[in-house]
Amino acid sequence: MVDLDQLVSEAQQSFSSTSDAVALEEAKAKYLGKSGLLTEILKGLGKLDPEQRKSEGAKINAAKTAIEGALNQRRNQLADDLLQARLSQEAIDVSLPGRGRGAGSLHPVMRTWERVEEIFHSIGFEVAQGPEIENDWYNFTALNSPENHPARSMQDTFYVEGHDAKAQSLLLRTHTSPMQIRFASNAVKTHLQQYGNLDDMPDIRVIAPGRTYRVDSDATHSPMFHQVEGLWIGKEVSFAALKGVYTHFLKTFFENKDLHLRFRPSYFPFTEPSAEIDVAFPSGKLAGRWLEISGSGQVHPTVIRNMGLDPEHHIGFAFGSGLERLTMLRYGVDDLRLFFENDTRFLSQFPA
Ligand code: PHE
Repeated sequence: MVDLDQLVSEAQQSFSSTSDAVALEEAKAKYLGKSGLLTEILKGLGKLDPEQRKSEGAKINAAKTAIEGALNQRRNQLADDLLQARLSQEAIDVSLPGRGRGAGSLHPVMRTWERVEEIFHSIGFEVAQGPEIENDWYNFTALNSPENHPARSMQDTFYVEGHDAKAQSLLLRTHTSPMQIRFASNAVKTHLQQYGNLDDMPDIRVIAPGRTYRVDSDATHSPMFHQVEGLWIGKEVSFAALKGVYTHFLKTFFENKDLHLRFRPSYFPFTEPSAEIDVAFPSGKLAGRWLEISGSGQVHPTVIRNMGLDPEHHIGFAFGSGLERLTMLRYGVDDLRLFFENDTRFLSQFPA
């Protein structure tokens, strides 16, 4: 007969010398497995007479229980060791101060948006917003843009599948200028409904900031960008008023009363005459350079007519300025793409 005590202590030793679960399960097989030592011994019981079988069987079972106990103990030990090792590896220093959530802040372009609204509101302009999905009439035709104008091409404009109720093609507006027509014709319609004529029609004075889209992407162009449209229509709104309003706006916006402005002749189908507005800073990094900031001009007679007004009686100006451009100049940002990368290292430099 095998020495069962010896077997138990051998098994104990063998288990405690294993250093991981896999080795332990292998060691277990040697004693408790299907063809393990204990199983073999149990098989031998059949050859003994009943009396002996009973007493030997009890001893073997006791040995089996002892070996199983040793196995479980080692299993627990190894599991504890593993957990301990993991814990010390992933240790966190609970005495460190918390990171906090950090307060978010307004996106720099949104700050410009709000600032522009404030300034124009303070000089009597209403603020309006219009749809980003426009139809051909508002975005082009009503604005006197000829059928073959390159801005209408697929290369320059994002078209949306389908048409509106009036069979107009749909597109993402390429500028905020459609708001000139939408806002003015609505004001005209409302006034006519109420008074039956346009004799005492008050001036239309509005800005319309919002998102605009073009097939364009580089350091100074993004397929989605922001513009603010300005419009002032009345009985005697002159080009001088455009100069006065825009000069006031820019000086207030940049908090710099020594800014220089230049109205450079240009062309837009919806204004005549048209001017590009350039700005020059008297000092600082950008000093001495003319920087283009806005398109502008006297609203074209055809556009006045499409607003429902008579160009013999109504006249005015419009401008369209890029909000990213204004933001870049105000904060000295030189790559427009930074605005849309959602990198908090950049955005957190504009605290609330
Ligand atoms: N819509 C023009 C553009 O996006 C800008 C503009 C607006 C020019 C109003 C004149 C008058 O370039």
